[in-house]
Amino acid sequence: MKILIIGGGNMGLTYAQSFLRSHITSKEDMMILEKSAGKAEALSKKDIGTVYSRPEDCLEQADLVIFAVKPQDSGTLFKSLKPMIDAQQVFLSIMAGVRISTIIESLGVSKVIRAMPNLPAQIGMGMTAFTSSDDVTRIELVMVQNLLNTTGKTIYVEKEEAIDAATAISGSGPAYVWFFMKSLMDAAREMGFSYSESELLVSQTFRGAIELFNKTDFTCEEWIDKVCSRGGTTEAALATYNQNLVRDDIISGANAALKRAVELGSGK
Ligand SMILES: NC(=O)c1ccc[n+]([C@@H]2O[C@H](COP(=O)([O-])OP(=O)(O)OC[C@H]3O[C@@H](n4cnc5c(N)ncnc54)[C@H](OP(=O)(O)O)[C@@H]3O)[C@@H](O)[C@H]2O)c1
Repeated sequence: MKILIIGGGNMGLTYAQSFLRSHITSKEDMMILEKSAGKAEALSKKDIGTVYSRPEDCLEQADLVIFAVKPQDSGTLFKSLKPMIDAQQVFLSIMAGVRISTIIESLGVSKVIRAMPNLPAQIGMGMTAFTSSDDVTRIELVMVQNLLNTTGKTIYVEKEEAIDAATAISGSGPAYVWFFMKSLMDAAREMGFSYSESELLVSQTFRGAIELFNKTDFTCEEWIDKVCSRGGTTEAALATYNQNLVRDDIISGANAALKRAVELGSGK
């Protein structure tokens, strides 16, 4: 199966490297179309497949075409591709907010899969939600899911609206975690720790808490109960967070991200 990745930036490169590292495809079957001359040259040096700068040199050979350009570049890209498209090709888009119906109408195709990955895909720890148009066959869907699985975990969602919701939770989610980490690092600095000590204290705490959560069947509430002793330090911190409605703020933030994802999808 020949794969063409259009856009060799952060995500395009991550995908090419993940697919090759997992041996799910070979360099001979990997093509990258990149319009930026500087990035194209850097990609050529990485030896991760054949790098092209013109769609007419590569599009026709592709069984699967992956769109990894910024959403605002999609209109121009679709116009340039349309005359060369084969309706039997399968298209995978990771562009935030670009709807399946837009891709189908702009290109005159029917087999479209839309996915929302996140940045930890760079180290094989990503979380991707994906869905597909009706014409994508089961075999094609499994083939694409196998590719996506090389970047971390995946979840298939029936309705496209769930992709917007996943954007608000897992797509933007790493930034929420880093925001909490940064706040706790700021507290550590105020308490007298150096910058590197603060980083170590906080990053290892997050890592340990997540590993513990993943390796057991306890819920977050049950783990919180285990750390909290009555009248103790953790209880004092959580009482302050509850009083300040931190949980509600986190939910409002995620809902603001969802609202924005929906707006972007309708072209606002
Ligand atoms: N980064 C993330 O964490 C993340 C997470 C989920 C989804 N996504 C989605 O992934 C997509 C790519 O994001 P990114 O961060 O990888 O962007 P990026 O680093 O800017 O990469 C996009 C690349 O595509 C090139 N390009 C633009 N138009 C092209 C065309 N017509 N033909 C060939 N190449 C073209 C760009 O070149 P120029 O620089 O010259 O324009 C750039 O090198 C976006 O749609 C984004 O919504 C990203």
